[in-house]
Amino acid sequence: MDTTMFIMNTNAKGLSAQDRLDVAAYAGSLSKELVSSDMAQVKELGNPVGVRHLGKALVMYGAPDRGITSCYSCHGFNGRGAAPVYPMIGGQKYVYLVSQLKKWRDGSRTNDPMGQMRVVAEKMTDEDIYNVATYLTSAPRTTMGNSRVPSDYPEH
Ligand code: HEC
Repeated sequence: MDTTMFIMNTNAKGLSAQDRLDVAAYAGSLSKELVSSDMAQVKELGNPVGVRHLGKALVMYGAPDRGITSCYSCHGFNGRGAAPVYPMIGGQKYVYLVSQLKKWRDGSRTNDPMGQMRVVAEKMTDEDIYNVATYLTSAPRTTMGNSRVPSDYPEH
């Protein structure tokens, strides 16, 4: 027996019509958060998306003319992470990357040591954010010359 469905069924019986709408709306917003690195799907759900090769340039080289340091220099090749300080940002969900970059930028996320991330994000435009997220979410994790990746890199 599928106990998950049994529990769902029991719970659902106690819901009012409004509750059902609320749950549906919540589930809708959840799935939007959870959408993966499939950019076609991300776009279909109404999220603004970026241009992949422009994001790649920012990840690899930054934008020296605008004082943006490359993501690579801290987060490692294609953002695969440099423990323990620099988290893996390659292969993360698109919507998550966008939301975190906007939070550094508007100051609602402040747990970065010495404000390292805020200094970068405050110089990024919306386009920069969509571009890097578009690239990073499906960035390859290895180079031709180095096939080793951190063991905690998620499979996808
Ligand atoms: C000077 C070093 C530095 C540079 C350059 C840098 N970051 Fe970061 N970044 C950090 C640090 C440190 C953290 C971790 C903060 C913390 O402890 O949560 C972080 C965290 C993040 C996170 C949150 C990850 C998570 O798991 O929540 C994202 C997203 C991110 N950086 C994106 C970028 C992007 C995109 C770029 C390039 C445009 C970039 N970073 C450049 C230092 C840097």
